[in-house]
Amino acid sequence: GSCLESVKIAIDTGYRHIDGAFVYYNEHEVGQAIREKIAEGRIKREDIFYCGKLWNTCHPPELVRPTLEKTLKILQLDYVDLYIIELPMAFKPGDAIYPKDENGKIIYHETDLCATWEAMEACKDAGLTKSIGVSNFNRRQLEMILNKPGLKYKPVSNQVECHPYFTQPKLLEFCRQHDIVIVGYSPLGTSRDETWVNVSSPPLLKDPVLNAIGKKYNKTAAQVALRFSIQRGVVVIPKSFNPQRIRENFQIFDFSLTEKEMKEIEALNKNVRYVELLM
Ligand code: A2P
Repeated sequence: GSCLESVKIAIDTGYRHIDGAFVYYNEHEVGQAIREKIAEGRIKREDIFYCGKLWNTCHPPELVRPTLEKTLKILQLDYVDLYIIELPMAFKPGDAIYPKDENGKIIYHETDLCATWEAMEACKDAGLTKSIGVSNFNRRQLEMILNKPGLKYKPVSNQVECHPYFTQPKLLEFCRQHDIVIVGYSPLGTSRDETWVNVSSPPLLKDPVLNAIGKKYNKTAAQVALRFSIQRGVVVIPKSFNPQRIRENFQIFDFSLTEKEMKEIEALNKNVRYVELLM
């Protein structure tokens, strides 16, 4: 229920881009929040930009469209705005989200990412998604798609971890050259949940430079971190279930960082991921 409430508060606050996925198990709540806000007359469907994701167990081309159709059914929406391949590696298809063998090891599945991409293109042609993209792809994996013979649509975006401690300068430049938007996840440095976060990397929002710059503008370290990303052309998808912080994270359009401050923040890059995706 907290997701339903949070999305409604977010829409009221002014957020329009909602980053979702089947594996977050809350698409029914996100869809309900969007539909309620449309019914209230606060927004129209076309104001919302919903991103859904194709999970690792659904890479075989024949599974792509039915998987997206399942997401649409859960959302109770006719289309998503963006559908992305969540990770560049495939797991064994089936009901288990993390299929494991008797030793507890993930069972991978051999698929051809280019064939998966062609199935994504077909979803766009069928009107089930407005755009298609990828996530957690490195340069080599992006090049594989970009160089695919007969490519119909390029990935419009690549969603990767991106924030002041992991600034992705090389990938950002490569994506810029190819008109691929970087969507930065964990823009605040994650929730530091030890089950999936590398907590040996220090907490981003305690950073003295971010806090000192924030003080100058009467902003928080979180607001400075988000402003830094959008100012360098990286889309941010901060996550919060807290109404006050949902609003706080939207108050980033009334100040701007100087070139010197941008450089100072860029210099914080540690090149260490919080989200190591060890599987
Ligand atoms: P909460 O949901 O209690 O607000 P990320 O977007 O990098 O994944 O970070 C999400 C984490 O950061 C969540 O634990 C969230 O907690 C917390 N968070 C979100 N906004 C703020 C903020 N403005 N200041 C401090 N922590 C925040």
